[in-house]
Amino acid sequence: MTEEELRRYGASVAAGLSAGAVIALTGELGAGKTTFAQAVAAGLGVREAVTSPTFTLVQEYRSGRLPFYHFDVYRLASSEDAEELGIEEYFYGDGVCVVEWAERVEALLPPDAMRVHLAYGPDEGARDVVIS
Ligand SMILES: Nc1ncnc2c1ncn2[C@@H]1O[C@H](COP(=O)(O)OP(=O)(O)OP(=O)(O)O)[C@@H](O)[C@H]1O
Ligand SMILES: [Mg+2]
Repeated sequence: MTEEELRRYGASVAAGLSAGAVIALTGELGAGKTTFAQAVAAGLGVREAVTSPTFTLVQEYRSGRLPFYHFDVYRLASSEDAEELGIEEYFYGDGVCVVEWAERVEALLPPDAMRVHLAYGPDEGARDVVIS
């Protein structure tokens, strides 16, 4: 997918989400995880600019149709740390959670989480997207 296709796809996914939805994003540095999170936020009607929550575990946005919780767990040492930070209260809560580097909190993800894996494609500006 091109970046534009990825953004359109993320926005279309957002239309079908309800409270308690969790989207687990994986893929290497720069693969497009934040780009996808921004697209979901846009699809929910979030009006603020969504930036990577680099120095906090989670960034909350409340201007959309549902609360939007954007996680980046890259810096977490272990899923026990995430557990202590109360990540599961978000996962089973009132909004939509999108988690970058989700493999780091694998054990805590709800069984019905949507998995989106992003990888560099053959051409510059292309990404392969695997949904499960
Ligand atoms: N097809 C594409 N899909 C998504 N992003 C693309 C695509 N082509 C180019 N890009 C660019 O690649 C970059 C992806 O960055 P992004 O921050 O979304 O990645 P990330 O996976 O969140 O990285 P990090 O691991 O640092 O959090 C952006 O600069 C975006 O413009
Ligand atoms: Mg990112």
